[in-house]
Amino acid sequence: MKLLEERILAEGIAENQDVLRVDGFLNHQVDPILMEAVAKDFAEHFKNEGITKVITIESSGIAPALLTAKELGVELIIMKKQPSKVLYKDLFQTVVASFTKDTSYELTMSKKFLDENDHVLIIDDFLAYGEAAAGAIRLVRMAHATIAGVGILIEKTFQDGRAKVKENGVNVYSQVKIKKLAEGVIELEQ
Ligand code: G4P
Repeated sequence: MKLLEERILAEGIAENQDVLRVDGFLNHQVDPILMEAVAKDFAEHFKNEGITKVITIESSGIAPALLTAKELGVELIIMKKQPSKVLYKDLFQTVVASFTKDTSYELTMSKKFLDENDHVLIIDDFLAYGEAAAGAIRLVRMAHATIAGVGILIEKTFQDGRAKVKENGVNVYSQVKIKKLAEGVIELEQ
């Protein structure tokens, strides 16, 4: 997606060989015009899939996912992160271990909002090693809903996220693919 690529090249900061900072338009300050364009692109890509709900994981996926849900005319479900391992009977829960952030958390979703009649689109900002996406897939399947795909704004193709998602039988559509990061260097896949 051209607009997002241009913005990453203009304002993204490669902190090191693993992490790209995009605080100016996505992770801290959010550009609504760019998010609207991103959402239209996702909606166009998934428009014939019969999607009934869009799902994201708090917090950085919320802005693009909400606008995508609006474009598709469906509701958004935000999966929540909880530090505690307490089990709640009204929630689906799964543990997600993040390599990128070196933490783990309990990903949760209410049992109220999804059932076997739903066909969902999962949207998130980054695809790194895919642990968050795999956790989201597990929760959707606990609700017996089906998955149209995972939509990602920025995929780092030198990490293993796509393989992890595909291993779960789900396709990934990413708007921008980054093949290499190094201090001060951002290389995109064409
Ligand atoms: P993982 O398997 O390494 O955990 O990768 P995953 O794709 O699940 O991403 C874990 C978290 O790290 C996600 O944020 C993701 O957005 C963020 N992340 C991964 N790589 C990068 C990167 O290069 N740059 C930035 N800015 N973020 C990255 P999260 O924990 O869901 O937090 P939030 O930002 O959505 O609150």
